[in-house]
Amino acid sequence: MTPDFDLQGHNTLGLPARARFGATISQANELAPLLSEAAALGLPFRVLGGGSNVVLRPRFDGVIGLMAIAGRELLGQHGEHMLVRVGAGENWHQLVEWTIEHNLPGLENLAGIPGTLGAAPIQNIGAYGCELVERFHALVALDTDDNTLKTFTRDDCDFSYRQSVFKRTPGRFIVVSVTLALPKAWRPNLGYPGLNTLAADADAKTIMQTVVAVRNRKLPDWRQLGNAGSFFHNPIVDASVADRLAAEHPEAPRYPGADGRVKLSAAWLIERCGFKGHRHGAAGVSDQHALVVVNHGGATQQQISDLAGEIVSAVEARFGVHLVQEPELL
Ligand code: EPU
Repeated sequence: MTPDFDLQGHNTLGLPARARFGATISQANELAPLLSEAAALGLPFRVLGGGSNVVLRPRFDGVIGLMAIAGRELLGQHGEHMLVRVGAGENWHQLVEWTIEHNLPGLENLAGIPGTLGAAPIQNIGAYGCELVERFHALVALDTDDNTLKTFTRDDCDFSYRQSVFKRTPGRFIVVSVTLALPKAWRPNLGYPGLNTLAADADAKTIMQTVVAVRNRKLPDWRQLGNAGSFFHNPIVDASVADRLAAEHPEAPRYPGADGRVKLSAAWLIERCGFKGHRHGAAGVSDQHALVVVNHGGATQQQISDLAGEIVSAVEARFGVHLVQEPELL
């Protein structure tokens, strides 16, 4: 373990942060000894993948494991699907490209999402009309309660919009590999605005390239302007709340949610409160997309969290809707 470990290069918001210790995890069997070492020192242990969905406090008084377990393996057919097992440290977008190159379509709508395979199931990543749950078969994770490896089926993960059993029990499970199920009878999914101009028989590579182009147009690149993607969930509200909003603002986007509820656009609510392009010191809201909180350079966690608090209060006061932060404060 390396003491006083610098995490600024390991979070896409680019926040200055250090951990008491850090270590790179290249194989699953390195985890149990590391956890024991942390426990012997009385320190908490957390894993970071790409650091693209966290807001890091300046100091983590514990051990950070940088997930770097590699490996991509085509396991073969399973009913209507091809199964691909991937190490938790693999980069998500590179995996999407690899599957397309190997004629295994199905992940193209999820192209361009920053982060690692191990992080993808935590918040059930989703974009452009597809969620991970639709391409998920199983995963293996270390249960830190008893230091054993466990297999989770799709049902065990209890996925829903930006939610899973892993998100609800932060830090308990450490994902070591993910097995994806890619459809043998693949069909393009072009329903999302921005993709519906493609030919109905567009191939997976074209869809992937289009998704990347749409993302590049709509979202700031964290390498140029630190950010953690969508900073809030799209709120899912009772139909009565959505109807009240629609009565005043018929143009407000709304999407069907589970159980007759309605998903609203957090970006729309935030923009209407005047935050798009707003700056609060070095922290700000992207002028490209109102759902993205950005670090203009030199922002601290406190400035980012203060700005997020301002946004939540303003949206609550104006629309009576409570926004929930997506990246975990660690
Ligand atoms: N909108 C605004 N102002 C803006 C941006 C968008 O009013 O500045 C409105 C527009 O009406 C637009 C609507 O919001 O039609 C939806 O915008 P967008 O298509 O960009 O999607 P989103 O709901 O804001 C979600 C995901 C994104 C994902 C996109 C595309 C969440 C929290 N975010 O954003 O995921 O890429 O859909 O599928 O569900 C992420 O999680 O980090 C992420 C980027």
